[in-house]
Amino acid sequence: MRHTLVEIRKYLELLVDPSSGKTLEETHAIKHIGYDEEKDTIVLLIELSTKALEFTAVLNRQIAKIVKLDLGYKGVLINYEQARIEGLAKQLRILGIASGKGGVGKSTITANLAYALKASGKNVGIIDADIYGSNMPKIFDVEGEELIGSDDGQLYPLIKDGIELVSAAFLMGDQKVLMWRGPMLGKILDVFFKKTMWSSTLDYLLIDLPPGTGDVMMDIKNLVPDAKILIITTPHISAASIAIKAGFAAKELKQDIIGVVENMSYYQLDGLKHYLFGQGGGETVAKTLGIKLIASIPIGQPISGHHSIFTSTEPIGIIYLHLAKAIMDAWI
Ligand SMILES: Nc1ncnc2c1ncn2[C@@H]1O[C@H](COP(=O)(O)OP(=O)(O)OP(=O)(O)O)[C@@H](O)[C@H]1O
Ligand SMILES: [Mg+2]
Repeated sequence: MRHTLVEIRKYLELLVDPSSGKTLEETHAIKHIGYDEEKDTIVLLIELSTKALEFTAVLNRQIAKIVKLDLGYKGVLINYEQARIEGLAKQLRILGIASGKGGVGKSTITANLAYALKASGKNVGIIDADIYGSNMPKIFDVEGEELIGSDDGQLYPLIKDGIELVSAAFLMGDQKVLMWRGPMLGKILDVFFKKTMWSSTLDYLLIDLPPGTGDVMMDIKNLVPDAKILIITTPHISAASIAIKAGFAAKELKQDIIGVVENMSYYQLDGLKHYLFGQGGGETVAKTLGIKLIASIPIGQPISGHHSIFTSTEPIGIIYLHLAKAIMDAWI
């Protein structure tokens, strides 16, 4: 080896990360530098705020020029890693629950999925991103609660049954609605991702998305580009057609859709299934988007007497456990 790794690092750190306009030194982008003696190759792990090809291609060329032409090594092997937003744990898996259409069960499914993941031994947080139609506080029986903030503007999520929860509703009590009007409202997701003290052991962060296909999904893509999406529909064709639109919006944003859940699929009575809302919505969405139908949830109320949460021993609770398993498998 003709140079020390420290020397090579110094040369490379002068380069500018085209996605941020800062030098690799300023962004502490070089996470690892090594040398493969056999192949006379420099091995690099570089962290960027986005791994978009337009940026990595530029860096690849500049790094190759320095390592091969200027310093005279035979090869260079570069791996890129997407930087996480500060404060979010490295292992965190982020899942947006979307449907396009309102009232199909996103919030109910998000909450029950959180309980099922918890029952499977995972630490879970929920972002209720439905700013105008927020009902997560009702589902968790924590209406009227407020989030505790720290002096330096950080928020602490509410914890219910071990599940961490933030909701716009906690910030918009009668007194506070003015404070969040206007531009701040659009920044609420920023607050939930960047200024919320999620516990460092969180494994899954579920985002209950509002109905519609546009803005919030785009915000999620910008804030946490590697978030995955779960699409919810009912068997009815009108719900399915809008879920398909949401799916295409996610695809356009290059978000990974892990599957479709059909909710309110049937009502079971005396062992017979009655298809009250028709049939086929989930299959249609899955086929059109080229993804899997990973769960069908029947119409029903929790046996436990709770208004929304199913325990993991009752039949619908067991379906949620299977769904949790499918979600966990999606990251393997
Ligand atoms: N499988 C089901 N069986 C019976 N009722 C259900 C089922 N799923 C959801 N519901 C009920 O349907 C209503 C709408 O559900 P939910 O609020 O979860 O939908 P949503 O998609 O989040 O709606 P919004 O678009 O308004 O946010 C709620 O009253 C909920 O309890
Ligand atoms: Mg909802």
